[in-house]
Amino acid sequence: MKILNNKKLTILSILVLMIGSMMLVLNSCTASQKISMKSGAQLWAENCQRCHNTPSPSTFTPEQWETVGMHMQSRALLTETEKNKIVEFLSQ
Ligand code: HEC
Repeated sequence: MKILNNKKLTILSILVLMIGSMMLVLNSCTASQKISMKSGAQLWAENCQRCHNTPSPSTFTPEQWETVGMHMQSRALLTETEKNKIVEFLSQ
């Protein structure tokens, strides 16, 4: 009888752990969704003037912005989505 109870307890704690980690995963998804809801213009204003003046969209051609985006993505520690949004905004 005691062994059975221990087993039940183990199964229960595994379940609790699984649900807990699922909540964590779901939470992190919500967080990144919040970030990705920001517009390209907003991300550009928030990230690109930390180190230098914000370059205006007319400074470079769309092809050049693509290259600049790759360089500055690593400098500004942006995600792929954020970089793409900024490049899209700057290429208008
Ligand atoms: C962590 C600091 C940092 C951040 C954040 C940053 N940059 Fe830069 N940026 C630099 C540095 C340093 C240079 C000098 C050239 C190099 O090292 O590539 C530069 C150069 C540039 C240049 C070339 C300037 C020229 O006239 O040749 C452009 C355009 C540029 N950054 C755009 C951006 C954009 C757009 C963002 C936002 C996504 C951004 N930068 C974010 C540091 C940063």
